[in-house]
Amino acid sequence: MKNLWEISTTEYAGGKEGVMRRGNVYQLANGYMGYRGTLDEFGPAELVGITLAGIFDRVGLAWREPVNAPNGGYTRVSLDGVERSVLTSKVTRHHQTLHLASARFERETVFSARAKKLTIKSARFLSADTPNLGVIQYSVSCDKAANITIRTGIDGNIWDLNGPHLLQLAAEKREGVLLVQGVTNENAKRVLVAEAIDLNFGEETHEWQDQRNLRVIRWQAEAGQTYTFHKYFAVVTDNDLAGKPIEPAAVKMVLKAKALGHAACLEKHRAEWAKKWERCDVQIEGDDEAQLALRYSIFQLLIVAPVAGSANSIPARALSGQVYKGAIFWDTEMFMFPFFLHTYPEKAVELMRYRIKTLDGARRKARTEGPGYRGAFYAWESQETGDDACSYFNIGDPFTGRDLRTHFRDKQVHISGDVAIALWEYFKLTGDDSLLLEGGAEVILECARFYFSHAYFKKEKGRYEILDVIGPDEYHECVNNNAFTSMVAKETFVIANAMVEHLRKNQPKALRALVKKIGISRELADFREAARLLYVPAPDSKTGVIEQFDGYFKLRDDTVEELKSRMVHPNEYLGAGQGLAVPTKVIKQADVVMMLNLFKTRYSAKIKQANWEYYEPRTEHGSSLSACAYAMVAAEFGDLDFAYKYFLKTAKIDLEAKYKVYVGTVFMGGSHPAANGGAWMTAVLGFGGVQADENRVVINPRLCAQWQTFRFYLAYKGDGFRIKITKTAVTISSPSTNVRRHTMLVAGNKTECAPGASVTVKYRPTKQ
Ligand code: BGC
Repeated sequence: MKNLWEISTTEYAGGKEGVMRRGNVYQLANGYMGYRGTLDEFGPAELVGITLAGIFDRVGLAWREPVNAPNGGYTRVSLDGVERSVLTSKVTRHHQTLHLASARFERETVFSARAKKLTIKSARFLSADTPNLGVIQYSVSCDKAANITIRTGIDGNIWDLNGPHLLQLAAEKREGVLLVQGVTNENAKRVLVAEAIDLNFGEETHEWQDQRNLRVIRWQAEAGQTYTFHKYFAVVTDNDLAGKPIEPAAVKMVLKAKALGHAACLEKHRAEWAKKWERCDVQIEGDDEAQLALRYSIFQLLIVAPVAGSANSIPARALSGQVYKGAIFWDTEMFMFPFFLHTYPEKAVELMRYRIKTLDGARRKARTEGPGYRGAFYAWESQETGDDACSYFNIGDPFTGRDLRTHFRDKQVHISGDVAIALWEYFKLTGDDSLLLEGGAEVILECARFYFSHAYFKKEKGRYEILDVIGPDEYHECVNNNAFTSMVAKETFVIANAMVEHLRKNQPKALRALVKKIGISRELADFREAARLLYVPAPDSKTGVIEQFDGYFKLRDDTVEELKSRMVHPNEYLGAGQGLAVPTKVIKQADVVMMLNLFKTRYSAKIKQANWEYYEPRTEHGSSLSACAYAMVAAEFGDLDFAYKYFLKTAKIDLEAKYKVYVGTVFMGGSHPAANGGAWMTAVLGFGGVQADENRVVINPRLCAQWQTFRFYLAYKGDGFRIKITKTAVTISSPSTNVRRHTMLVAGNKTECAPGASVTVKYRPTKQ
């Protein structure tokens, strides 16, 4: 039987492309850093990357991007004086595995040379309880007596897209600990890697060569004997210990881990992972393919969940490298946040704290970006300060090599509303207003202020309109009345008003202080008016279709295939000034359908179906964010086969790694946490039919044909529930640790869920 808790491969070749894709698929991370799924002997040419969360750097005019640390996991081996690597030696066997339950990467490789067989095995993890720490077990054996040399330590050769970011690279060996330190180019932040080793064989000498700080261990190996050592490496930066010396901290960390030993470090790490899975796993009986793909997607989200107290968020390519500038997009709030909110609110809060932390950046952007904008205009591509990393010329044209003007940065204004909506969802589903008081309320009001400064009041029509924007479909820029954007803006006003009411009743002092602090008292009436009078395109009275933006219906109705057949270059960008999609109705990704999903309770199944049928054939799905929106809406109106197809497409995107890696001239290879979140949403909110608001949880299951039993966990208002859905019944178990009794609406039945009790409700499955 297939193990549904691991993925493995025997592949090791496939050139740079294969190495790059496996690096993504087999990556590990622990919120603090990512470690690509590369092999011990690999270097920058094989895209080894230890990408750090929350520390960025810029070199010259190149893109600002996250900093990659020197590789403390580096090891290479020689047999009888000749180096062995999967890249250059004869490999008789290779096997590598990613263990999802314990977040560990393992490889085993057998090299053959001169009638000898050399086996190396290594296993690594990035500690889940000590975020700065990585731990590796490495073993070597040879079937015949041999001279073996191991070089292990820290590789200071770093793969960067737009580096080098670490200057003044310096190496040291102190108290048996290897150190490599560099200083970032822009902000002079120190990044230090320390490495300690636990080894009881061979002669150790030291080497600092080619930017590598290494121990050289030589010995005469006996035939069939296995030699094992353990490596502990720690990455520490000025972000961790502002202003304080970082060397002693790093040295202490690795020596402490070494004293504790590999087994104890691993046990602590496993215990943390057991807790994560206990809560976040989703179980599907009857469909192993979906089970593994969904579990893998959840794994991808869990490994990049920000460290507690860091106020970091999750970049669009997670910690799989520097692609997309390591920036945080709307992907986080709209696609990843729901998973955390419904299963792991402790991490959801961290994501929101990041937006609070970067509010000043959003204010700066509003002040500088537009004609009289005020409030908070969040960065389209946000880094540690919240200033926008997105450039005005963000995509390289493969024909001319010149950069194309895109308006993602200045016109994709829905980002502020996406943030406000997520903040308000957090309050509604946790019932906890402390985040609002910590700065969340200020964010919401500043986002409303931004939209009010952006909106135009059309006197003749007696309404506000949001003009000159880009919706989620980035192929059509500078459009008026984009339904998604207008709806999100309007919702921001509705939320601002509801929040003010909540605070007025429950936290009047805090509200008064906030209103005074940001001088917003006279604008509150404007927000109430805008919530009423902001125009959102409505469904057509005959067809039910919502026009994506003014004039969309008049565009040329080419099919996606026709459009693609006209492409001259495989990577050409279909949007921007003269892109092929611009004069046509072909859209990049779910836009109106995304809106129907986000505001699903406000539109009927009929409207959803009409729009889905209209827009789906016109959607290129050129973004990994698209398929899940179509899947969820299809589940809403009952096309479960389609929903399933697009669920699988979304859930397998990183597992299969069959995505495009270039758009224009821009390298895009990396993981897709938004799709990972989209897979979870499609499963639990789509097929599970879970819909929670401030009043209650509603469950209207519509299981796809393949799934016999579907189990998941749901966090709500400080309590948690285990939900089991079969073809005919929903069982809700409330652990005795729950504090309150909750009333849920299950398949239309009011259901009491008391602490310690389990209740089963029968339902009639959706006809297919
Ligand atoms: C999509 C955006 C998304 C970004 C990062 C783009 O291709 O169009 O919606 O935010 O990728 O994932």
